[in-house]
Amino acid sequence: MDMWGRVYSFLFVFLQIFSLSPCVAFDILKQDKFLHVQKPEDVLVSANGVFNAGFYPVGENAFCFSVWFCNSIDPNRTVVWMANRDQPVNGIGSKLELLRNGKLILTDAGRRTEWTVDFVAASPVQLKLLNTGNLVLQQLDGTDDAFLWQSFNSPADTLLPDQVLTKDTYLISSKSRSNYSSGNYKLYFADNNVLRLSYQVPDITSVYWPAPWLVPWEKGSERSTYNSSRVAVLNSSGYFRSSDDLWFWAADLGIGPLRRLTLDPDGNLRLYSLQDGRWIVSWQSISQQCRIHGLCGQNSLCKFDHVLGRTCSCLPGYKIKNSTDWSQGCIAEFTGSYDRREFGFLRLTHVHVETYGYHIFKNYSLRSCNEHCLHSKDCKGFQFKYNFDEGSYYCFPKILLLNGCRTTSFGGDFYLKLPKSRLCSENCSEESRSGCPNVNQILNRTYEKGKENGYVKVLLWFSTALGIVEFICIFLVWCILFRSNEDNKVTTKEYVQAASRFRRYTYSELKKATKNFTEEIGRGGAGIVYRGALPDQRIAAIKRLHEADQGEAEFLAEVSTIGRLNHMNLIEMWGYCVEGKHRLLVYEYLENGSLADNLSKTALNWARRFEIAISTAKGLAYLHEECLEWILHCDIKPQNILLDSNFQPKVADFGLSKLLSRGGINTSSFSSVRGTRGYMAPEWVYNLPITSKVDVYSYGIVVLEMLTGKSSTGARAEGRSADLEQGQERLVPWARKKINGATSAETWIEEVADPMLGKDYDIDKMKLLIEVALQCVQEDMHARPTMSQVVQMLSLHDNEASQYFQGP
Ligand SMILES: *[C@@H]1O[C@H](CO)[C@@H](O)[C@H](O)[C@H]1NC(C)=O
Ligand SMILES: *[C@@H]1O[C@H](CO)[C@@H](O)[C@H](O)[C@H]1NC(C)=O
Ligand SMILES: *[C@@H]1O[C@H](CO)[C@@H](O)[C@H](O)[C@H]1NC(C)=O
Ligand SMILES: *[C@@H]1O[C@H](CO)[C@@H](O)[C@H](O)[C@H]1NC(C)=O
Ligand SMILES: *[C@@H]1O[C@H](CO)[C@@H](O)[C@H](O)[C@H]1NC(C)=O
Ligand SMILES: *[C@@H]1O[C@H](CO)[C@@H](O)[C@H](O)[C@H]1NC(C)=O
Ligand SMILES: *[C@@H]1O[C@H](CO)[C@@H](O)[C@H](O)[C@H]1NC(C)=O
Ligand SMILES: *[C@@H]1O[C@H](CO)[C@@H](O)[C@H](O)[C@H]1NC(C)=O
Repeated sequence: MDMWGRVYSFLFVFLQIFSLSPCVAFDILKQDKFLHVQKPEDVLVSANGVFNAGFYPVGENAFCFSVWFCNSIDPNRTVVWMANRDQPVNGIGSKLELLRNGKLILTDAGRRTEWTVDFVAASPVQLKLLNTGNLVLQQLDGTDDAFLWQSFNSPADTLLPDQVLTKDTYLISSKSRSNYSSGNYKLYFADNNVLRLSYQVPDITSVYWPAPWLVPWEKGSERSTYNSSRVAVLNSSGYFRSSDDLWFWAADLGIGPLRRLTLDPDGNLRLYSLQDGRWIVSWQSISQQCRIHGLCGQNSLCKFDHVLGRTCSCLPGYKIKNSTDWSQGCIAEFTGSYDRREFGFLRLTHVHVETYGYHIFKNYSLRSCNEHCLHSKDCKGFQFKYNFDEGSYYCFPKILLLNGCRTTSFGGDFYLKLPKSRLCSENCSEESRSGCPNVNQILNRTYEKGKENGYVKVLLWFSTALGIVEFICIFLVWCILFRSNEDNKVTTKEYVQAASRFRRYTYSELKKATKNFTEEIGRGGAGIVYRGALPDQRIAAIKRLHEADQGEAEFLAEVSTIGRLNHMNLIEMWGYCVEGKHRLLVYEYLENGSLADNLSKTALNWARRFEIAISTAKGLAYLHEECLEWILHCDIKPQNILLDSNFQPKVADFGLSKLLSRGGINTSSFSSVRGTRGYMAPEWVYNLPITSKVDVYSYGIVVLEMLTGKSSTGARAEGRSADLEQGQERLVPWARKKINGATSAETWIEEVADPMLGKDYDIDKMKLLIEVALQCVQEDMHARPTMSQVVQMLSLHDNEASQYFQGP
C-alpha cells in the first residue's frame, strides 16, 4: 500500500469515528455550564457510549430533557427517562443549567422554570451520566456512589438494570408510542406490599395484575404480602426480583444484551433485550391481552385470537359510543322505563365480566339469581359459576359491565339482562352472525413496530410467548378458581405444588431416576420416553430427545415457554435437563396410558369418550389461541393423548417441533413434514401453508376413530372392520358414504358407531360429534372450524337446556 493509501485509510477511520460524534463526547456537566436545546451537540454521553442525556423532541417545537439509548446502538433512540414529560419546553431558548450553588434547573424560553433539583450543596458538584443510564448529581470529591440526586429515583415508564423500584417510586406508561406524556397505566407497590399494575383514569381505578380475584397470600398467587421492604430490581443478567416474591427472568438470560423493563402504552409490562439494534420482548407480564383493563370500555367484550389479534365488540343490545375510540365503550340501545316483566337473560358462555359486582350470593340457584337481577333496575346481568370448594353455584350480579372477556378456558357463564324483544332466538348465540345487534372492529396489534416484516413478526410471536411465564402464574390459579370440570380439590392442590416445582435436573439425577434408562415406555419421532422415579418420589415420564444441534440458551427459552403452559388438558412438564449434548424433558406420568392403549378397552365408555373429545379440544384451543404464542402441535394422534386416572385426557408432546428445530417457530414455513401418516392434513401433501387447521384435521380423525372404533392407520383395523380398508383415505369416505346412503340418522349412527359401545350412547351427542369431526376433516382448511369453535359447538350442546331465561 502506498503512502497516500495509508493516509487515506487513516483519514477514513478518523472520519468514521467522528461521524458518530454525539456518542463520543463528554459525560459530565460542570457547575455554571448548561445544555442548550438549539445545539444538537449539547448532549451528555455515558463513558461506555450507550446512553445520551439531552433535549429530546417530543412534538412540534416541544422538547423534554431525557436520557435515551445512543443512536449508534439503537437507531430509534429509545427514551428511558424524562424529567418533564408532562411539561415539554420550547425548541428555542430552553436550557438545562447547573448553577454555581448546585441547583439543577430546566428553564423554558420565557425563563419559566419547568423542572428543578433543589438543595444546597456545600462543596462543588457535577452532573454525570453513568454507564448504567443513571443521571446523577455528585460531589466532585465525594465517593462515586454517594449521589446527591439521581434520575433512577424518579423513573418515567422504564426501569434499567440495577435501578431499584421502591415504595416511593412507580412507573407510569406513556400516552402512546408517539406521545410521551403520562398515560393511564401504573406499576407500583400497593399498601399490601404487592407489586401491581393498575388502570387509572379520573373516574376508574382498577387493578389487573396480579389478577384481582387472587388473594395475594393464598397459595398459588405466588405473591407475598409479608415483606414490607417493597423493593424490586432487575439485575444485569436479566433476573427480576421483587420483595413480594415475584420473580422472572429474560428469555436470553445472561450478561450481554442491553435490557429495559418498560410499562408500555398498552398497559403491559415488558422486558426488552436489544439484539442487533432491535428491541426484542424477552418477558411480559400479561400475554392474554384482554386481561388488561381499559381497552374496550364499558359494556363490551374483548376477545383475542391469533388471526385478528385483539378485538372489541359490543355486548348484544349495546352499540358503540364513539366509533373511533373503543375505550369509551358501548351504550345500551334500549331505553325507556324499566319494567321487569319485559326483561329476560341471554346466556353468554365462557364470558367473564370482571369486577364491579355489588354482592356475591353463595349457593344460589340460577332461577333465584335471575329473580334477584330482575328485581333490581340497576342490575345489568350476572356472572354464574360453580364453586368447587363449596360444591355450589355463586351468583354475582353486576351493575357495571367492565372488562368483559371471552375465553374458552373460563368455565362460568354470564347472563346478560336484555328486553325480551331483543333476546335472540334459540339458535342465535351472542356471537350473532346475523340479526343480533353487534359491532366488531379490529384493534391494531400491540406491536406496530414489527409490521411488514416476517422476521420481526416471528420474533414477536416468539418473544411475546415468553411472557407466558407470568401469565401462567395467573392463569394457573385462575384455572383452579374457575375450573368447570370435575377435578376435585385435592388434585387441584397437587397441581399447584407440582407447577411451582418446575426445575432443572442434572443428567445424573435423571439417569438414576430411570435406572440408567432401562424402563422404556414409549418411542416417538422426537425421542424415547422412559419411566422414572424422581428424587422426591414422584413417578415421571422422562423423554430423552434425539441430539439436536441447538444451543443451551435457545433450548432453555423454549423449555421455559413450554414448561409453563398450563392447562388441565395439557400434559404437565415438571422439569428438564440440559447438559452437554443431553436434552431431556420430565413430564408427569399418567397411569392410564394413552388413548391408543385404551381404544379397545371397555373402560372407555361413551361418557368418557365424549369427555375426551371435548377436553382434548379445550387443550388444543388453549394451545392455539390463548397462549399468545401460537403453538401448533402437528402430531395429534391417539398415542399423544394421555389419560389420567379419571380418564381426563391430557395432550402430550406439544411444542416439540420447536424444540427440535428453531425453524419450527415460523409456522408458515416448516422445513420438513411433521406428523404421522393417517392423521396428516392434506396441506402437508400439497405444500400449502401450515396453520392451526392441521391440528384440527388430526383432531377430527382421532374423534372419528374414537367413535367408530376403526383405525385410520390400519394398525388396529385387523379383525374389527370388515368393510374398512386400511388407510385414512378410507376412514373419512367410509363414514361419509354411510351417512349419505342411510335413510335416517338412527340407521347411519348405528352403522358408524363403534360396535363395542353397543347401544349405550346418547344419540344426539353422537350425531353432533360425528358431524363436528367430519367438519374438522374437510379437505379445504378454510372450511374447518377452529379448535375453539369446536369447543363451543360441543359445549353448547352439552348445556343446551338453559339457552336463556325469560322473566316471569
Ligand atoms: C399528548 O397527550 C396529552 C394528553 O392527552 C396532550 O395534552 C398532548 O398535547 C399530547 N402531546 C402530543 C405531542 O401530541
Ligand atoms: C442476578 O440474579 C440471579 C438470581 O438471583 C443470580 O444468579 C445472578 O448471579 C445475578 N446476576 C448478577 C450480575 O448479579
Ligand atoms: C424482603 O425482601 C428483601 C428484598 O428482596 C430481602 O432482602 C429481605 O431479606 C426480605 N425480608 C424478609 C423478612 O424476607
Ligand atoms: C424504529 O421504530 C419504527 C417505528 O416505530 C419501526 O418501524 C422500526 O422498525 C424501528 N427500528 C428499529 C431498528 O427497531
Ligand atoms: C370520539 O373520540 C375522539 C377521540 O377521543 C374525539 O375526538 C371525537 O370528538 C369523539 N366523537 C364523538 C362523536 O364523541
Ligand atoms: C345450598 O342450599 C341448599 C338448599 O337451599 C342446601 O340443601 C345445601 O346444603 C346448601 N349447600 C351449601 C354448600 O350450603
Ligand atoms: C334458526 O335459524 C334458522 C336459519 O338460520 C331460521 O330459519 C330459524 O327460523 C331460526 N329459528 C328460530 C326459532 O328463530
Ligand atoms: C391501525 O393502524 C393503521 C396504520 O397505523 C391505521 O391506518 C388504521 O386506521 C388503524 N386502525 C385502527 C382501527 O385504529
